[in-house]
This record gives sequence, structure tokens and C-alpha cells, in this order.
Amino acid sequence: TNYENLIFEEKDGIGFIKMNRPKALNALSKELLTELQQVVEYVEKTPSIKGVIITGEGKAFVAGADISLMVNYNSEEGRSYCKFAQSIFNRIENLEKPVIAAVNGYALGGGCELSMSCDIRIAGEKAMFGQPEVNLGIIPCFGGTQRLSRLVGTGVAKTLIFTADFIDAQEAYRIGLANKVVPQDSLLEEAEKMMRKIMTKGPIAVKYGKVAINKGYNMSLTDGLELETDLGALCFATEDKNEGMKAFLEKREAKFSEK
Ligand code: HXC
Repeated sequence: TNYENLIFEEKDGIGFIKMNRPKALNALSKELLTELQQVVEYVEKTPSIKGVIITGEGKAFVAGADISLMVNYNSEEGRSYCKFAQSIFNRIENLEKPVIAAVNGYALGGGCELSMSCDIRIAGEKAMFGQPEVNLGIIPCFGGTQRLSRLVGTGVAKTLIFTADFIDAQEAYRIGLANKVVPQDSLLEEAEKMMRKIMTKGPIAVKYGKVAINKGYNMSLTDGLELETDLGALCFATEDKNEGMKAFLEKREAKFSEK
């Protein structure tokens, strides 16, 4: 498929999605969101893709929802725009493969929200995060009020969402929004390095680890622990568990088969 607003590349098991509307700082037009949905669908059903890295072209990761579009929206149109973006971000969050956001620049509004639907956020030194929606008289509604408060706590989330302040990579790291800060020039390299490391691990274990964390976050501790037990028991039923443990005892590298 040829995309006009993003670049998709598959390289040795990693799908790279690069948002590519740099003149509008990769703002999430309908067209860009539609292509993002298509590429996420493709990634979901393509077994050769073991992990995904999302980044942006130019000086922005994504500077947010498209304000030139939203300016004319009434309430119902605003609602359906939110629903559409949320459905795509939910699919990213629930992809059964690890997803890393390589945040190269502005991750504002919907861009910060996109990054929060990824499993891990690696920030280049030039990254800037923020939820500036209140400047426009709206609230974050691509998941920001929910995912930001879950990631950093309600007090920090309210500070960011009420003030609309931008924060740099180091501050994002300090509050736990960014998980690692790396030199700007080696951002993609570092993201790939982390993904390649993850890809050497038991793939079923990584997948169930993701499910347990994501699903468990919305549950009581009791229910989450039960889910963890069930998924743990499923891991014990895999060939990869036998291989991983034997390899340890035989002092060699494990060769996982995803079975
Ligand atoms: C549409 C945008 C845009 C956006 C930037 N552009 N952000 N267009 N939607 N979110 C466009 C500008 O209009 C401009 O177009 C071009 O990109 C370059 O931007 P500049 O402002 O000239 O660049 P700069 O001076 O470097 O400032 C960068 C910036 C600023 C600080 C990131 O662009 C900015 O504040 N952007 C808006 C950020 C924002 O409010 N995001 C949240 C959106 S609401 P021209 O044609 O002039 O070159 C949101 C809510 C989601 O995401 C949920 C609700 C439905």
C-alpha cells in the first residue's frame, strides 16, 4: 500500500511507522488517521512483524489533532473525531506486539495521546510533550485525560492539562511519561536497539506480559492477580518455557519458537 501521510517500512521483523505531514507538524488530519488505521490493521494481521516503532518526520512527532479541521466542527462532529482517533489508539494499545514511540519532537495534544497508547516512550533530547487543549477551549479527548493520569497520577496530569504547559524530554522522564531519554541523533537507533532486545525474549511471554499489565490496570488487584495467574499458567504450557529454562540451566542462549 502506498500512503501519502505516513511512511511504513518493514525491516527485519520491525514495522516502522513514520508520520509524514511535516508541513503541518504531522497534525492528525482525517487522511492521516485513516492511513494510521490501515497500517495498524496491516501490522495486526502480519505475523512477520514482531514489533512496531512509531515516530515522526521533521521537527514534530505529532503536534496534535488538526485544528484547521476542528475549527468548523460542531459537537457531534467533535464526538465522532474523538471516537475515530480513540478506536485507532485503542488498537495500538492492544496490539499483541510491543510498540515503542520514538518521540523526535513535539508530542502535543493528540500526539502526546498517540505516544501514550504505545507501550514505551523513548524521547530524543528535542522532544516536547504537552496537552495544550485548554488553549483551544477543549479537553484532551484522544485518551489524554485517562491515559496521562494513569501514567503519571492525577495531580501531575491536572497540572499539565490545566496549564497547557509544554515539558521537555528530561521533565517528561522525571514524571515517568518518557521512559528513556537519548541523544536526538541516535533516537531511532536506540528505539530499534530496545526493540531488538525485546525480540530476543520469549515472544509469548512478552505478549502475555503486555496483556496482563494492560488488562490488569483496569481491574481490582484481586482480579488482576487472577489474570496474572492464568496467563502465567498459559506460559508454563508453552515449548518456549521449556526452552527458556533448559537454555538457562545449560548455560546457552534460548532459541524461542513462539510455540
Ligand atoms: C493543524 C497545525 C497544528 C495542529 C501546527 N500546525 N500544529 N495545524 N493542527 N495541531 C501547523 C501550523 O498552523 C503551521 O501551518 C505549521 O503547522 C507549522 O507550525 P508553526 O506554528 O508555524 O510552528 P512553530 O512556530 O514552530 O510552533 C510549533 C508549535 C505550534 C508550538 C507546535 O505549531 C503549536 O502550538 N501547534 C498547536 C499545538 C496544539 O495545540 N496541539 C493540540 C491540538 S488539540 P502554516 O500553514 O502556518 O505553515 C488536540 C486535541 C485532541 O490534539 C482531542 C480533541 C478532539
